[in-house]
Amino acid sequence: MAVETERVFGAMTTENCAAIILCAGTGTRMESDLPKVLHPVANKPMISHLLDTLSAISAEKTVVVVAPGMTQVAETVAPADTAVQKEALGTGHAVLAARDAMNGFAGDVLVLFGDTPLLTAETMKNMLLARRAAENPAVVVLGFRLDDPSEYGRLVTDANGALEAIVEYSDATEEQREIDFCNAGIMAVDGAHLFSLLDAVDNDNAKGEYYLTDIIAIARDRGLSCVAVEAADPVEVMGVNSRLQLAEAEAGMQARLREIAMDNGVTMTDPGTVWLSVDTKIGRDVSIAPNVFFGPGVSIADNVEIRSFCHIEQADVASGTIIGPFARLRPGAKLESNVHIGNFVEIKAALVERGAKVNHLTYIGDARIGAKANIGAGTITCNYDGFFKGKTDIGAGAFIGSNSALVAPVKIGDGAIVGAGSVVTREVGADALAVARSRQKNMDGWAKAFRKKRQVEKDGAKKK
Ligand code: UD1
Ligand code: MG
Repeated sequence: MAVETERVFGAMTTENCAAIILCAGTGTRMESDLPKVLHPVANKPMISHLLDTLSAISAEKTVVVVAPGMTQVAETVAPADTAVQKEALGTGHAVLAARDAMNGFAGDVLVLFGDTPLLTAETMKNMLLARRAAENPAVVVLGFRLDDPSEYGRLVTDANGALEAIVEYSDATEEQREIDFCNAGIMAVDGAHLFSLLDAVDNDNAKGEYYLTDIIAIARDRGLSCVAVEAADPVEVMGVNSRLQLAEAEAGMQARLREIAMDNGVTMTDPGTVWLSVDTKIGRDVSIAPNVFFGPGVSIADNVEIRSFCHIEQADVASGTIIGPFARLRPGAKLESNVHIGNFVEIKAALVERGAKVNHLTYIGDARIGAKANIGAGTITCNYDGFFKGKTDIGAGAFIGSNSALVAPVKIGDGAIVGAGSVVTREVGADALAVARSRQKNMDGWAKAFRKKRQVEKDGAKKK
């Protein structure tokens, strides 16, 4: 289908199309202080998914309809325009609120709901394609079929399959409720007719709302045709109204992102346990073991191995690197090629240069680790004094002995060695040895004599 659309439609999609996204509903079932459409899916607000998809089809203009006081939504969607629907009187009323902002736009208008983050560019294109077909329908509606269509609006079609009306569940007859073809809520409407059709919508129905869906019957009365396009996958049109549905949308998005990654040459031993962000970039021949989490802003080059239980965000990883198991890369971690980061290692705001190894139980923050340096188990960069952060600079080929504390700001020269258990507070020159702990003292026979003395004392006490 994708290829077909591209061939028939090509660049035409980029012309003369705008979108109105409805977000003014109360979203009460989310039980949240955050407006519903700002809840994230794959680490990006739901509304931003739609905006990105619209930019992929090069929509000329987007107006987001919000409720009074939804300033956070307006800030998130900028530079897209927002229009305020003063009172939530229904979906038809909400689209009318966008009239001024649409400024007489007469091309095709996609009407979308802000809570359907999984809608694809392909489906948007298919709807526009249907809108521009020879029969020139005034309205194209996206439909989908469900075994249990519950409270979705039903698409009423005539014998030829043409769309006659949309009937809301609350207003439907028993017979209409038997229809399994549902309204996804998404439409492509000829901009020349949109507002004139909406002007004719009234609120004489079960909910007392101005239904967007009524424009179908109104268009038919005016002799205009309407068609329904079926969504390839019902998951795409899933609307999020509750936290449970948010989790379902997340699962749908994760499945899609994993599939894209695998198609691009990533091996996932157990894909269902790998969590990706929408902007995660992963190269070819990367292998990801079970239970790995990618937060926003991660870029992984080719030929990287990520072992189980790693948590990675805002990090940049070059090829040939091995990470984990149980490693944490925090914002600003930059690993050059062939670096090894092992278990229980945390890296933050640090450059680890090519071939360096940080293999066990270590915290590296605000630092540079030179090429091929070896950081021993338990090394800590003490980067914070309670007021300021300090930098630790470790030279190429340096060797940091286990359980060392490097008190920043501090510099360790190329090829230097730090003795295990050191607390380093002063600069160590290139190729020098720094040992910053008390000198070892051995006392021959002391332990044996100690035991003997204590045993005598204990036996004496018992006799008393
Ligand atoms: C709507 C459709 C229904 C369809 C279903 C698909 C109508 C009348 N019904 O019903 O046919 O099957 O979606 O999910 O369109 N909104 C506003 N202002 C309002 C009311 C709603 O902006 O005054 C926004 C909401 O924020 C939401 C969208 O419109 O993004 C849909 O509203 P909702 O109340 O969820 O409609 P449904 O009853 O689900
Ligand atoms: Mg809804």
